[in-house]
Parts: sequence; structure tokens; C-alpha cells
Amino acid sequence: MNIKVLNTIKELRAYTRELQIQGHKTGFVPTMGYLHEGHLSLVDLAARRSDKVLVSIFVNPTQFNDPKDLEAYPVDLERDISLLEERGVSAVFIPTKEMIYGKRHQSAVSVSSLTALWEGADRPGHFEGVTTIVSILFHLVKPACAVFGEKDFQQLRVIEQMVEDLHFDLEIIRGPLVRESDGLAMSSRNVRLSESERQKALEISRGLRRALATYQNGEKEAGKLLGVVRAGLENLVDVKIAYLAIVSEDTLKPVEFVEDEATRMLAAAQVGKIRLIDNIALTS
Ligand code: PAF
Repeated sequence: MNIKVLNTIKELRAYTRELQIQGHKTGFVPTMGYLHEGHLSLVDLAARRSDKVLVSIFVNPTQFNDPKDLEAYPVDLERDISLLEERGVSAVFIPTKEMIYGKRHQSAVSVSSLTALWEGADRPGHFEGVTTIVSILFHLVKPACAVFGEKDFQQLRVIEQMVEDLHFDLEIIRGPLVRESDGLAMSSRNVRLSESERQKALEISRGLRRALATYQNGEKEAGKLLGVVRAGLENLVDVKIAYLAIVSEDTLKPVEFVEDEATRMLAAAQVGKIRLIDNIALTS
């Protein structure tokens, strides 16, 4: 096996120290495993921007506000490791939760304003869990750059802000959202959708595309564009819209009209038991 599997913090530290001594530039992709093409596209991006790619796989318990969601999170480490090896990844770090959060653990990192709305409002504690684990991983891995997907757009912005605020010495690279051939945004949760739920879930990406087309045809009023997406979702049985919003990419605050600044449409919906999120850039 060419990929190095690092199961302890001690092994990771020895490995990253060696990379530093040899003058390598490490590109880091943090994941929670059960990898799909979306993750692998982030790995490819990291490989283009560094000369050693390190991936972490850690299902971080502190970012799950719903214990049932954590329990149901799919795991397949063997498959993940072989996918990463095929993709030329140098090392994968797979810690246990006891290693990361010792018995005495009591520190956290939080970002305020950007986490107040959308996922942050619906999932109390979620972003503090994310920013804390990402900070821990950044300290351990010491990467030159790290790649985060635009699929979790709010997460990406929160991490960019954290890196700016806390002066982390690394570059955050944005990885474009990857879709399945039918348009569904790739997610490790998609495997839990039944066929009929999947058909309903597709209405999220269809709605976003329709709204983008409506915008490109001249409609700039956010309320009207949101109505286009809402109309496709609101009458579906077992689909509950969590939020639909058109926001400034910078502040994540809602806008009334889509003007020149970078603007994105965000969507989250519960389809059966599965919570899905998606988004589309209206202007960039
Ligand atoms: O996006 C994810 O998979 C997770 O939130 C992350 C960034 C790996 C932190 O646990």
C-alpha cells in the first residue's frame, strides 16, 4: 500500500514533521468519510495546489446536534482508504474520538455572526463543533492549504472567517459543488434516500436551476426567485423546507434584490428523515 494510514496523533506528528523537514507543501482535505466523487474532487484540487495530500476521516460527534443523525452516519473505512490510494493521496489520518477529545477537553472555537442564520439557526452547536474540530486538525496537520467544498457554503464561509480572524497561516481553497448525473448535490447522506425520496429531493436542484434561469432572464427580486423554488417543493408529501434564502456570499445575510455583489441561493429541506442542503451561485 502506498498511502500511509495514520491512526494516532503521534504517528501524524512524526509524519508531518518529516514532510516539513523535506520541504513539502501539504494540501489538506478534512472529511467525515464515506467518500464520494465530491470529496475526491476536493482531493484532486488539493493535489493541484500542493505536493503531498493528507486527508482526515473523522466523524466528529460534536457537530451533530441530532444523536440519531450521528448514529446513522455511514462508515466504510476500507473503501475510503482504497479510493484515496487510487487518487494518489499520501496519507490519511483516522483518529478516534477519545484521541481528539480527551477526558479533560473543555476548549472550543466559535465564529459569531456568520453562524447565526441558516444551518446555524436550525442546528444549535453545529458550527462550534465544526470550527473546533477544524482548528484542532489545522494545528495537528499544519497544512499550507486546505480545501472545503462549496456544497456546504455556510461552513466554507465560516471557516474562511475563522482563518482570517485567528490568523491561521494557510490558504483556504474553495472546491466547486459536484452533482450526481441526475442533478442531486453529492452527499454521504444520499445513500439513505429511498427511490421515491430521491425523486422528491431532485426538486431542490431543479428549483435552484429554474431560479437561476429566471434570474438570467431578468428577474432580480429575491422574493420572486425564491417563489420559483418554493413552488416546486411546498406541495410534496414528506418534504419540509427548512429554509430558502438568497444571500450575500460575504455576510450570508439575505438580500432583497440580486445586484452586482456575489450572491448565492441557499436551500435546505428535510426529505423523509434526511436533511439535505444545496446552493447555487446567482452572481459571482
Ligand atoms: O464537511 C465536513 O465533512 C465536516 O464538517 C468537516 C469539515 C470534515 C469537519 O468535521
